[in-house]
Amino acid sequence: VSFDLRTQLAQTVALVEAKLDDCLPLPASTPIAEPMRHAVLNGGKRLRAFLVLQSADLFGVDANQALFSAAAIECIHAYSLVHDDLPCMDDDDLRRGLPTVHVKWDEATAVLVGDALQTLAFEILSQKAAAQNDTIRVQLISGLTHASGANGMVLGQMQDIAAETAKTPLTLDQIVDLQANKTGALIKWSTEAGAVLANQPKAALSQYANALGLAFQIQDDILDIEGDTQATGKRLNKDQDAGKATFVSILGMDAAKARAKVLVEQAQDVLSPYGIKAVPLRAVAQYVIERDK
Ligand code: IPE
Ligand code: IPE
Ligand code: MG
Ligand code: MG
Ligand code: MG
Repeated sequence: VSFDLRTQLAQTVALVEAKLDDCLPLPASTPIAEPMRHAVLNGGKRLRAFLVLQSADLFGVDANQALFSAAAIECIHAYSLVHDDLPCMDDDDLRRGLPTVHVKWDEATAVLVGDALQTLAFEILSQKAAAQNDTIRVQLISGLTHASGANGMVLGQMQDIAAETAKTPLTLDQIVDLQANKTGALIKWSTEAGAVLANQPKAALSQYANALGLAFQIQDDILDIEGDTQATGKRLNKDQDAGKATFVSILGMDAAKARAKVLVEQAQDVLSPYGIKAVPLRAVAQYVIERDK
């Protein structure tokens, strides 16, 4: 049977959304349930969930177990988007084709939805069925705190904001560092999750994720310029207006595209020891730079 990425991605969407639906508070139960559900259940490519499920599959980890990690990372990611869109950050009114949480509700709600999604992620990972033993469960949790916080995504967001007012443009190395934190850290945790769950070495997956994370953010920056609001479900041409530092701003469009292509080839090559079992992860690497949303 030949591998069909489109089908696999659609399956991931269905699986992780069913899991999230289970984990989220019910609308009637609390006033924060509806905006939380708006933020995490309406759309999204579920790339991070896909990386969790496919890296788990590489080692024969039970998909039902891996789904806890897939749901947890999508909660962290959705929280990061809700806060990223706030007026004090990127000030966006559209996300996944819908009004952002602070537009549909208000800013206080958006702050609190982010907080609640972040803690929900760790509540999900704390469940017994999320890993085969306590050591692995703690490893997952501590890895996700590291990837999300002051050493990872939050640091990258801070660097992203600082770059807007920097007196001199960032160097290439500084952009690589910023993007590895902002976007790379959560993608890396997702990709390594399979190895962690299986208690197997994660070296090859880590290298794959480093390259993939950068390529992913380069494509995000390209889509901000060349994309389509309908397809991406986001407002475009935001980065240049805000003075964001991106691969495109520093290298130019053509060199940024070339760089993303090289990174994807690197990511794919690193997985050759896994042979045919790594076909889904190789295919999704290509998708990351070909996607229009
Ligand atoms: C967008 O992430 C924000 C970045 C980290 C660049 P995605 O492009 O994965 O957003 P969704 O989840 O598909 O909406
Ligand atoms: C967002 O990066 C990264 C995080 C939310 C951590 P961007 O600001 O480039 O993402 P978009 O373009 O708004 O989705
Ligand atoms: Mg941003
Ligand atoms: Mg943004
Ligand atoms: Mg962007």
